[in-house]
Amino acid sequence: MSPPELRRGVVTIDGPAASGKSSTAEWVARELGFTHVDSGAFYRAVTAAVLRTGMPPGEWTPQLVLEAARIVSAALAGASMVPHLVGDPADAEIRNPQVTANVPRVARMPAVRAWVNAQVRQVATERPIVVDGRDMGTAVFPEADVKVYLVADPWERAKRRLMQHLRRLPTDAEIAAETDRLVHRDAADATQSVAARDAVLIDTTHLMQEEQVARIVALARAALGPA
Ligand code: CDP
Repeated sequence: MSPPELRRGVVTIDGPAASGKSSTAEWVARELGFTHVDSGAFYRAVTAAVLRTGMPPGEWTPQLVLEAARIVSAALAGASMVPHLVGDPADAEIRNPQVTANVPRVARMPAVRAWVNAQVRQVATERPIVVDGRDMGTAVFPEADVKVYLVADPWERAKRRLMQHLRRLPTDAEIAAETDRLVHRDAADATQSVAARDAVLIDTTHLMQEEQVARIVALARAALGPA
């Protein structure tokens, strides 16, 4: 059976940890009037769900993880499709450090990848989307209208992520520790984090977010024609 037809309009934004994919994707979606889907949030939600079981991470099996994922559902919040846990939004829980440290372990499981991919593709059959993650332009939407791969210097990524969480200028020691965690997670995610051959690479190290959003919106308008 061939997969269901996608609604016209799929923009994928991939890249390494804390490269600004989600905030950029959300802004681009608003500009285009599309729905934003953060695939990483679904991997995080599955990880939070399995952490709730209390089972130690070393004992997680794909079967246990999928069983735990039954409490995860997708819900529309404003212009974004977000995961809920037992019907409630759980943004703080899915972004806590314990979840962040354990996501790659879960994301490595093919059965979990198939589950997240099915959630994301389902949204794209219903509405035009801007979706961000690691493999959206390769494994999930090889036929996307526009593919972008965001990169940035690890130190800059770490600084931005800390500023987002701490809401103040981080110290050099804090940035160094966060850089270490990001580089470690990038290595753990390396298998699924490859830019599509037809992706447009944007290095955001010296860019304002506004500029990267404008570039992606222009690419989408050129590919899709006027709204
Ligand atoms: O925002 P950040 O870049 O820190 O990460 P995220 O997009 O929230 O993704 C969290 C984790 O989910 C990543 O470290 C990967 O392990 C996994 N992930 C993935 O494997 N494939 C995706 N398409 C998206 C996320």
